[in-house]
Amino acid sequence: MSRIIAPSILAADFNNLGKEIEMINQSEAGYIHFDVMDGVFVPNISFGIPVIEHVNKIAQKPLDVHLMIVNPDALIGLFINAGASIITVHYEACIHLHRTIQIIKNRGIKASVCLNPHTPVAVLEDIITELDMVLLMSVNPGFGGQAFIENTYKKVRQLKSIIEKYNPDCLIEVDGGVNYETGKKLFESGVDVLVAGSFVFNSNHPAETIRKLKML
Ligand code: DX5
Ligand code: ZN
Repeated sequence: MSRIIAPSILAADFNNLGKEIEMINQSEAGYIHFDVMDGVFVPNISFGIPVIEHVNKIAQKPLDVHLMIVNPDALIGLFINAGASIITVHYEACIHLHRTIQIIKNRGIKASVCLNPHTPVAVLEDIITELDMVLLMSVNPGFGGQAFIENTYKKVRQLKSIIEKYNPDCLIEVDGGVNYETGKKLFESGVDVLVAGSFVFNSNHPAETIRKLKML
């Protein structure tokens, strides 16, 4: 099992974004997590391609792009051109998910699917062999700083058994309300990647918080 920390820059200080990315570059983070929100799939608007392009110029870690957008097929190519190393689309936003995953993989980057808290992991059984990662939302997407949904631990266990049966190389990422307590239980349940926004960027020593999360 990997142990990767992916700080979510949604909670970063955008007046000093360069400094925040440099902190991540120097830290033990494995990815940089980007929350792209379109105001349609989720009730919020965050940032898009120009921010990713600029960060990509100074980032020394893979860009983990979480697309909370409708009709991602139309924009995936632009996010890849901007520097994405991993593209996560939402199961709930993709009518032709198998085709969407091929669009990502045909560009040679990692393909990932995200499930909202109410979506059962069983829906992935016929696509799991195509995936590099599955992202489980442990909050309803659209905002940082929300409380962790406990049912997520059960979903992680169910997903782990599907992955062990059909695609053992597929990683499990969890996103929303991650802190030392939830992070420890998630790693113990078999999670590979922890996304953390407010817990990292609201802490006094973000790099130290990242190191401690990784050691849990
Ligand atoms: C929410 C986003 C998360 C969020 C995490 O829709 O996908 O990545 O930024 O923030 P925290 O860690 O503060 O819950
Ligand atoms: Zn996210």
